[in-house]
Amino acid sequence: MAGTASEPKDGILPARRDERVAALTEREELRLQERTPGSRAMHDRAVRSMTSGVPSSYQARDPWPIYLTHGRGSRVWDVDGSEYCDFHNGFGSMVQGHAHPAIVRAVRERIGLGSHFAMPTEDSLIVSEELARRFGLPQWRYVNSGSEATMDAIRIARAVTGRETIIKIFGSYHGHHDYVMVSIGTPYDEIGPPDNMASLAYGEGIPRAVVDLTVPVPFNDAPAMERRIEALVADGRPPACVIMEAAMMNLGVILPEPGYLEAVREITRRHGIVLIFDEVKTGLCVAPGGATERFGVRPDMVTLAKALGGGLPSGALGATAEIMEVVASDRVKQVGTFNGNPLTMAAARASLLEVLTPQAYAHLDRLCELLIAGCDEILRRHGLLGYTVGISSKGCVHFTDAPIRDYTSFMAHQNAALPELAWLYNANRGVLMAPGREEEWTLSVQHTEADVDRYLDSLDALARDITS
Ligand SMILES: Cc1ncc(COP(=O)(O)O)c(C=O)c1O
Repeated sequence: MAGTASEPKDGILPARRDERVAALTEREELRLQERTPGSRAMHDRAVRSMTSGVPSSYQARDPWPIYLTHGRGSRVWDVDGSEYCDFHNGFGSMVQGHAHPAIVRAVRERIGLGSHFAMPTEDSLIVSEELARRFGLPQWRYVNSGSEATMDAIRIARAVTGRETIIKIFGSYHGHHDYVMVSIGTPYDEIGPPDNMASLAYGEGIPRAVVDLTVPVPFNDAPAMERRIEALVADGRPPACVIMEAAMMNLGVILPEPGYLEAVREITRRHGIVLIFDEVKTGLCVAPGGATERFGVRPDMVTLAKALGGGLPSGALGATAEIMEVVASDRVKQVGTFNGNPLTMAAARASLLEVLTPQAYAHLDRLCELLIAGCDEILRRHGLLGYTVGISSKGCVHFTDAPIRDYTSFMAHQNAALPELAWLYNANRGVLMAPGREEEWTLSVQHTEADVDRYLDSLDALARDITS
């Protein structure tokens, strides 16, 4: 993996390639619009009552998004009746696949017995027991989203340490509350040097005082993290926690380099800092016990959401008993009307005990290997710059041969046009991906080798058309 994206190793001068990418993008965008008149009509109606025509800004797309009707197994269907093989999977949540029979049965049974009491049910403790077993952390609590999980985890870390400053990885997304909407999606020239990266609000409406409490450091650079911690300590602002993904899932996929997580574990322990692994994307998706199990480094706290609920809104945080003492003693108010909702817990129980079995993870690992090998072979055969990174259900193609190891390298080799074209190629060939270069694919236990082939056929067409 030597060289940079600016070197025309694929034999096409960059300017000519850019022209070709632009022309193909225009063609494919037109094709998509012709294929989705029903979505267009629904969007025209939706904007009158739902801002931008979508429930959440991340679902928006110009000139209109694709509106779906239903999903089954590895497939979803849009309002025009087109079928897609789903690699988007609800922003990485549906590792079980859609309408999995075990989850449908559990939810059906539960809804007839009442779906909300704000009183504990047995399923919540069965789920806790299973999460404790999988993650090696004995104490669990529930919330309803990844944002709530990271918000509560940070508050708990602050209470445990009596400190206010927190550290996050530059470029990592941990949800939409103020503590963590910092230093994401920043332009390259505003990132700052590794030892003094900038704390920048992600969007408006976030108080400057809150932004300043959140200090970013680069991924895969433990010495830089330690230097920043030492500077904060010297400044009288020792950090309460480091919140991070053990493998980054919001810049495509970036894996931790050998020794990095171990070094972070050692540094945080030495400085009395709570280490939080945000496993909202990795947890339950890359191994039974998430990235914690996969990489063999045990944090003090884990946050979960997305895949936990098998398609229902969910979230959880797990920690050592020592840490959860601040909750048990009611010093921290860890609360929420829908926490441990019986319907969600029934789905989570079925998912954990019946769907996400050891065989399911073996299946995901095998499909992942096929996808990585297939993508790399296509890139090589057509001479298109790029390489594939994957871990179990998650993976992506980075369209550069420069190593992407953190936000700075991701932005230095930014090529927004090619991932957008890849998204269009996929959509027009029956492959649904989450949009944007930041997103990765998510496989489900119901995906098959035929689904992998469909993805590979689409990439093959893209690589051929760009390089021919
Ligand atoms: C790592 C990570 N943490 C937290 C969140 C926030 O989760 P939610 O959208 O459920 O609030 C996300 C969402 O993508 C995420 O990827």
